[in-house]
Amino acid sequence: MKIGIGNDHAGVDLKYSIIKTMPEHIFINVGTDSYESCDYPDYIKLVAEMVQKGEVDCGIAICGTGIGASIVANKHKGVRAALCTNEFMASMARKHNDANMLVLGARVVGIDLAISIINAFLHATFEGGRHKQRLDKIKQIEQ
Ligand code: RB5
Repeated sequence: MKIGIGNDHAGVDLKYSIIKTMPEHIFINVGTDSYESCDYPDYIKLVAEMVQKGEVDCGIAICGTGIGASIVANKHKGVRAALCTNEFMASMARKHNDANMLVLGARVVGIDLAISIINAFLHATFEGGRHKQRLDKIKQIEQ
């Protein structure tokens, strides 16, 4: 899969661990590669824009808690970003919410859990049906 990935200074190590651990995917890295303090909106918006434009299959955004990244990503029309702390949330984010961005907190999850969460996210499929009508209502709110 082609995955956009972006992060602030808090997410540098987790990002590189993910990229190294998952060679089966193509990662487009738009995050900072520096530990110097920066503003997460500057980098998370770049991932969200790639997702919006359909340039990647999905996006991964990382900050310290995942909260700021989640708020930024969800300001973008058409982006459904899910902050997940376990595999169940990641799976449900795809099945029920058709999430197109996964958000991780680098100070919340370790690398092993992060990889499990990503795999759960990537392997689940949107179920449609009643969930589709709920997404349609979200789209109406976006207008
Ligand atoms: C940076 O210190 C931290 O505030 C940021 O990574 C994130 O957790 C914000 O939500």
